[in-house]
Amino acid sequence: MSPAATATQRLALRGDLLDFSAAPALDATSMHGVRWRADHWLLIENGRIISAQPAAQMPDPSWQRIDHSGRLILPGFIDTHVHSAQLDVIGSYGTELLDWLNTYTFPAERAWADAELARSGSARFLDALLAHGTTAAVVFPTSHKTSVDALFGAAAERGMRMIAGKVLMDRNAPDGLRDDVELAERDCRDLIARWHGSGRNSYAVTVRFAPTSTPRQLAMAGALCASDPTLYMQTHVAENRAEVAWVAELFPAARSYLDVYEDAGLLHRRSVLAHGIWLDDADRARLQSAQAQIAFCPSSNLFLGSGLFDWQRSADAGVAVSLASDVGGGTSLSMQRTMADAYKVQAMAGRRLSAWAMLHAATRGAATALQLEHEIGSFDAGRAADVCVWDWGVGEVAQRRIAAARELHERVFCWITLSDERCLVAAYVAGVKQG
Ligand code: GUN
Ligand code: ZN
Repeated sequence: MSPAATATQRLALRGDLLDFSAAPALDATSMHGVRWRADHWLLIENGRIISAQPAAQMPDPSWQRIDHSGRLILPGFIDTHVHSAQLDVIGSYGTELLDWLNTYTFPAERAWADAELARSGSARFLDALLAHGTTAAVVFPTSHKTSVDALFGAAAERGMRMIAGKVLMDRNAPDGLRDDVELAERDCRDLIARWHGSGRNSYAVTVRFAPTSTPRQLAMAGALCASDPTLYMQTHVAENRAEVAWVAELFPAARSYLDVYEDAGLLHRRSVLAHGIWLDDADRARLQSAQAQIAFCPSSNLFLGSGLFDWQRSADAGVAVSLASDVGGGTSLSMQRTMADAYKVQAMAGRRLSAWAMLHAATRGAATALQLEHEIGSFDAGRAADVCVWDWGVGEVAQRRIAAARELHERVFCWITLSDERCLVAAYVAGVKQG
């Protein structure tokens, strides 16, 4: 091995460090759980966070020092529900969920059977995530094996933390997207063997939603989960009222939509269920006891007219909630925009969501719910250095408003509501600068 390959890589980033040591309450503006270290050096060695120290304590010249003083440094965002093959249908006009799927989304996903298109599309998708400050994600590719190989391959090239899997759909979907139980199981087993635990990739058994899988396919998916408790599971649940009514018709014996998944063995501590707007108290109790999480997708829920998710109710029931863009139902990959929409959805219910609660959900909270707290989501020593550097404001309106903030919560709240990817200065994945 050459000396260069074995040399310690030392990187020190200077700026205002903000991360979390614990979960703040949803409406708490106090500093409980908030770790604010104004003008500090963040020390990164061989891609991992070592420590932080005040700016006056300058690291010695063995460190590559990058001075971002006056800028905000955050853990990379974690988007817990997003579709790699839907960038080209983002912002599609005039439909609710079921028509939106048939009109825009299924036709776009069909094209991903092509390996070259899946490869270039996955690269574009991950570069777009990084350009929005998102360094880890839970992703739906398509039902084609090619789309999963392409995504995991592109994530490995960038060193990104990725959770994904082949989308299961053996009914109520067009030709070119439908699989069958045997073929799907073979594909899943092959993909799990190739990608699960390879580098920073993890496999998620990926049921699109109950209407597009037969009971036999759901049972197969549940058996896969049972065969390896380190596998994730992702799906959609109770997003739209017409969808909920359709599930009741398709599964007349089920007590609820969520019950369909529970019956199939799909609810566990590594389950990520997108939306969950139309769940009831019994469902929330089931989610809590399974330790499954809801990925709240406010921009998608508003754009598709799906409904207003009640975060407080889930929190009261002890259900973990993370934040997600759900692009292409969602209208932006920006987690600041996602947070701003989450705030507005809660405001419609007369509730307040603090900047701390939102930022925590998009970083350490998501990591904890995904059982990845030891790896990502904070600046704790030993975490992978997935780190983003942000300007406090782009444009005069934002800059003046943020400068006028009287205290830190106000400043960070204004940053969330007035910023987006234009504020990103640099994204590091495991200590390596991207782009
Ligand atoms: N339900 C089933 N498939 C999808 C999808 O692609 N996006 C959203 N938002 N909901 C779904
Ligand atoms: Zn989705």
